[in-house]
Amino acid sequence: MSAPTSAPAIEAIDLVKKFGDQTAVDGVSFTVPEGTVLGLLGPNGAGKTTTVRMMTTLTPPTSGTARIAGYDVVEQPKQIRRAMGLTGQAATVDEILTGRENIMMIGGLYGIGRKQLRAIGDQLLEQFSLTDAADRPVKGYSGGMRRRIDLAVSLLAAPPVLFLDEPTTGLDPRSRSELWDVLRALVKQGTTLLLTTQYLEEADQLADNIVVIDKGRIIAEGSPLQLKEQAGQASLVLTVSHTDDIGAAEGLLRKTGGEVFVDLGARRLTAPAEGLADLNRVIGWFTESGIAVDDIGLSRPSLDDVFLSLTGHTAEDNAAGTDPATSAQETSV
Ligand SMILES: Nc1ncnc2c1ncn2[C@@H]1O[C@H](COP(=O)(O)OP(=O)(O)OP(=O)(O)O)[C@@H](O)[C@H]1O
Ligand SMILES: [Mg+2]
Repeated sequence: MSAPTSAPAIEAIDLVKKFGDQTAVDGVSFTVPEGTVLGLLGPNGAGKTTTVRMMTTLTPPTSGTARIAGYDVVEQPKQIRRAMGLTGQAATVDEILTGRENIMMIGGLYGIGRKQLRAIGDQLLEQFSLTDAADRPVKGYSGGMRRRIDLAVSLLAAPPVLFLDEPTTGLDPRSRSELWDVLRALVKQGTTLLLTTQYLEEADQLADNIVVIDKGRIIAEGSPLQLKEQAGQASLVLTVSHTDDIGAAEGLLRKTGGEVFVDLGARRLTAPAEGLADLNRVIGWFTESGIAVDDIGLSRPSLDDVFLSLTGHTAEDNAAGTDPATSAQETSV
């Protein structure tokens, strides 16, 4: 049952899905090298879940196909199901059963022996901080605990390829970052991960590569850094303490060679900058000049800026009410 080892772990090949006369996914192709993380990013209704469902054999593509670990989704659905795990957008665990019972039941369906299952189960419960709650029915779990038991269950068969559809939606920031740690550890062990998200910070934190889709089509792709660079240059932002100094400060900043933008009311000046070397240079000039400065920092475009420039709206407009806060990275001195 071995698959060609040179194949990428995940490959989408011109995937199309139509619902009646609506095209939900319109020719999506990408590859995910083994042991890397791909973030599939896009607003509500972009086609993320439909793409994942086609790739995981849950719904047949109208045309095109996908390969997981070298197996074809259309031709070899059985092998695909063995090669991958999925945590869907909606919970799949049984509410009435306890966390441990869910593990025993689903692991049993995978054909894992009871003794081995008990050991793996304990380990997963521990890994997801669910040991204390293991023998309580899932219906009493918090949202974060539910996402964790969902994920634990999808890891039972130790799949080499894992699909996660909005794994942290509805989690508080702490549970979210805990889950990120778990995912990072999995990837370190060699798991290939495809995750959909509306949280740009999540993609920024986890993904090696990002594919942005909107209305069923890919509108951008690249590493988080490449996408940010595409959205524009970094800038240096400086606030002087006294309005009287603005003219002199502007003169100094001009030495960078770029155009200086002045916000008089805020006593704030902005100039293009390459990075920390520029920042250090400017700090030197101002220290020498004696001009009092309240704040100076470097501001880079965030993935939010990328998203805005690509889709014409921010991800926050779309996110389901929870905090997708991604601010520009500022280094204040
Ligand atoms: N079973 C279905 N029947 C008809 N239309 C569907 C079906 N499933 C999805 N769609 C439509 O396809 C489009 C893409 O939906 P999809 O669920 O893939 O988006 P998504 O990117 O996952 O969005 P969200 O961020 O809200 O989860 C939407 O317009 C949706 O209404
Ligand atoms: Mg979805």
